[in-house]
Amino acid sequence: MNKQVKILFEQEVKDNETVINYIKSKKEDFISTLLNEEAVIIIKQPKENKQTLEDIRVLAGNLSKSLAHSDVEAVQLNDEILVENYKSNEKKDVITAFVEGWNLGLYKFITYKSEAKANHVELNFLNVNDISNAIDLGEIRAAAMKFSRDLTNETANELNPEVFPEVLKEEFQNLNVEINVLKKPEIEQADMQGLLAVSRGSKYEPRFVELKYVGDDSKPLVALVGKGVTFDTGGISLKSGRDLSDMRMDMGGAAAVSGAIKLLAESKAKVNVIGLLQIVENMPDSNSILPGDVIRYKNGKTVQVGNTDAEGRLILADGLIRADELKADYIVDIATLTGAAAVALGSETGAVMGNLEYASEMRTIGAKNGDNVWPLPLIDAYESYLDSDYADFSNISNKGEAGAITAGLFLRRFVINPEKWLHVDMAGVMESQNKGYYTKSARGFGARLLADYTIEKSE
Ligand code: BES
Ligand code: ZN
Ligand code: ZN
Repeated sequence: MNKQVKILFEQEVKDNETVINYIKSKKEDFISTLLNEEAVIIIKQPKENKQTLEDIRVLAGNLSKSLAHSDVEAVQLNDEILVENYKSNEKKDVITAFVEGWNLGLYKFITYKSEAKANHVELNFLNVNDISNAIDLGEIRAAAMKFSRDLTNETANELNPEVFPEVLKEEFQNLNVEINVLKKPEIEQADMQGLLAVSRGSKYEPRFVELKYVGDDSKPLVALVGKGVTFDTGGISLKSGRDLSDMRMDMGGAAAVSGAIKLLAESKAKVNVIGLLQIVENMPDSNSILPGDVIRYKNGKTVQVGNTDAEGRLILADGLIRADELKADYIVDIATLTGAAAVALGSETGAVMGNLEYASEMRTIGAKNGDNVWPLPLIDAYESYLDSDYADFSNISNKGEAGAITAGLFLRRFVINPEKWLHVDMAGVMESQNKGYYTKSARGFGARLLADYTIEKSE
């Protein structure tokens, strides 16, 4: 059976008083009902304050998600009315947002569910021809985010540091993306001491991955640096007292960068971008790095490890040094870095630090594309919190305050010119609840944010 259902808009049934009265009695944004004995779905006209692109994504995600639980296999709707309903936005953006939300609403991570089948409800527009590019882009954006979600949801025994680059090789083999994987000997040669230190307790070797996509080599080089801790136990400063299973998602930054590169490559964006991923597992073991140990970085700086659970900044330092070696014009790092970011901003908004003007640009981009971030200040007066008696500085603050900011201040010390740099702390937004086009899973945060920021910096 091929169960096709029409999705109608309130305008299309405006002459049918019974239906209109029925719609008005319901609080949902859309309802399913019978019209001339045919099952249809009717979308209400959006209220004036409910017309952003994010509102469209949420509507589409809720729709596809609810249909995924029915026997409907395909829907058709009139794109012209959709565009009309959201006319404060550009036409192509409306279509892209709808397709994106639709596809993401169907997402499930089912690798380990023996009975589950992937959701599929086909979306058909009435006038495909003039909007096919916008449709394609919506599909590409959703696929990039799904890729980030899949990587982040995967268990740590499967997606360990040695396997992660192999998954990336497979994903990027048919795309115009060059992938270069540094294994331990090359990491030693490259003098990446943060990676070597943090990975010492793990049975897996560290990896450093470079993902290069050149859509236009005349554009400024944007380096995207991602934290890829496939599991964060805390190391010798072992985490305790809570369920640690989410710490398999501590590679969310690397997943965001991977998703962004996929988005840019598949949409053939005119950019020049390199992803730099630091991939390790943080484990306690007799070989582990110990509290008090000192790491001497390639740039000459020494860091005393006050706490082995502040491992993200230790490995990101290697990535930031590498970004400067490559003479990147813009640098963004992204990481599930501090619980403090989640405390400060909650679970719907990431934190962004660094160049204030760029941070504000990134906030605007996120407000439009759904990956929300809000600037935090890098307050110079807190620099002294990183003082160490034994080394140039410590990897933890000696004060129990401003944890997200002091992590940002730590990272700032590893970029030669901090004016070209942004740091995104996505610890609070690593996961999502079942709402809109999200499900209870990894959120897939950052792929769109980094891709759109890269595009903006290339215009
Ligand atoms: N991966 C964690 C941060 C984190 C916590 C991400 C919760 C997502 C959810 C990070 O490596 C960490 O352990 N940070 C410590 C830093 C502290 C030891 C200075 C933290 O935030 O407690
Ligand atoms: Zn940690
Ligand atoms: Zn971590």
